[in-house]
Amino acid sequence: MKEFKVTPIRNGTVIDHIEMGMALKVLRIIGVRGDVSSTVSVLMHVPSKKNSWKDIVKIEDRELDPKELDKIALISPDATINIIRDYNVAEKFVVEVPERVKGIMSCSNPGCITNKNEPVEPEFVVETKKPPALRCVYCDRMTTDIAENIV
Ligand SMILES: Nc1ncnc2c1ncn2[C@@H]1O[C@H](COP(=O)(O)OP(=O)(O)OP(=O)(O)O)[C@@H](O)[C@H]1O
Ligand SMILES: [Mg+2]
Ligand SMILES: [Zn+2]
Repeated sequence: MKEFKVTPIRNGTVIDHIEMGMALKVLRIIGVRGDVSSTVSVLMHVPSKKNSWKDIVKIEDRELDPKELDKIALISPDATINIIRDYNVAEKFVVEVPERVKGIMSCSNPGCITNKNEPVEPEFVVETKKPPALRCVYCDRMTTDIAENIV
């Protein structure tokens, strides 16, 4: 039997298989504050098939742009994006951690030129994808606590 914990949505996006504990970060990334104008459902600590836990975010009448998808990949590389059309999953894909990251994360090194009020946009090379570890192209500092540094 199919179990529904929230009302199905007609059109929109389901971000599934979010790493447990990251749902609120995902909401921040997609710009959901208190003043939404469409239905948003947030499920935290949902059983996942691989005997672990996950979070899910469902948002009506909204699709995600490439920058939002890159950010979600960095904090939750196994997240799946399900585009819902007329109540059905019309498209499904796994987010992809990019090879290079520009402008969406700040460097964790306070002494880095990108943190010195210079007009230098932070930029990183992705050294490992799972879990994501990023090396700053300016100071070589590795950043692994990505959720804390995402902008
Ligand atoms: N109309 C809808 N409204 C809200 N959520 C939906 C709707 N249709 C599907 N979903 C949700 O979207 C996600 C993907 O749906 P799908 O039917 O592909 O499940 P699945 O087969 O378990 O997929 P996966 O293998 O990616 O886990 C699930 O979390 C499901 O609950
Ligand atoms: Mg599933
Ligand atoms: Zn740096």
